[in-house]
Amino acid sequence: MRGKFIVLEGPDRCGKSTQAKLLYNYLLEKGFDVVLTREPGGTKIAEQIREILLKPELDVRPVAELLLYEASRAQHTQEKIIPALQEGKMVICERYTMSTSAYQGYARGLDLKMIDTLNHIATTGLTPDLTLVFLMSDKYFSSRGEYLFSDRLEREDKEFRDSMRQGYKNLAAKTENAYLLEADDDVDSIHRRVVELLEKHHITDLCPSKKS
Ligand code: TMP
Repeated sequence: MRGKFIVLEGPDRCGKSTQAKLLYNYLLEKGFDVVLTREPGGTKIAEQIREILLKPELDVRPVAELLLYEASRAQHTQEKIIPALQEGKMVICERYTMSTSAYQGYARGLDLKMIDTLNHIATTGLTPDLTLVFLMSDKYFSSRGEYLFSDRLEREDKEFRDSMRQGYKNLAAKTENAYLLEADDDVDSIHRRVVELLEKHHITDLCPSKKS
């Protein structure tokens, strides 16, 4: 029986890593076998692709950027996500296909249908059982230090970020099992909301990896 695939999405610094770790610990405590992973990255090859993608000094052209994200995804999906799901595990992934539609599609301006096709090829049709999209105001992003520790994508301007955020709203509205969560709330309230959504979707009832 297949495990469950939970994806956390949203703009940079929206708090999804914190929520991913809280969720990971919550599920471990419940006795599940859990894999916590991320995109771009998650495997040796995909992490090397991540380095290329995020280095601020590299001038990666838009289509090359798109294909590198998809190459990272194809490797990660085949090598790590699908095998874990086949073993009945719970897989939590920071970012997946919706990031590409929001960043390379809505913000960078590449064709959304082309991105859907490439996403389908890279994932071999795998879709999340639950997608949680964390959105906070742009004011919050700036107040957290715009250029501090920033990678190549984080250095994009406000127009890019506004289009990406609007993209997330549109995508969340039309994607099955996807929810927008208010990321300005406090960490514990957001975690409680995440757990409520897992329960609503019977994620923990239906995942086979629970140890007795
Ligand atoms: P992270 O820092 O949240 O791990 O993500 C790395 C950056 O890559 C982040 O700025 C978002 C960006 N990104 C894309 O532009 N397209 C994608 O498909 C993915 C997965 C991430």
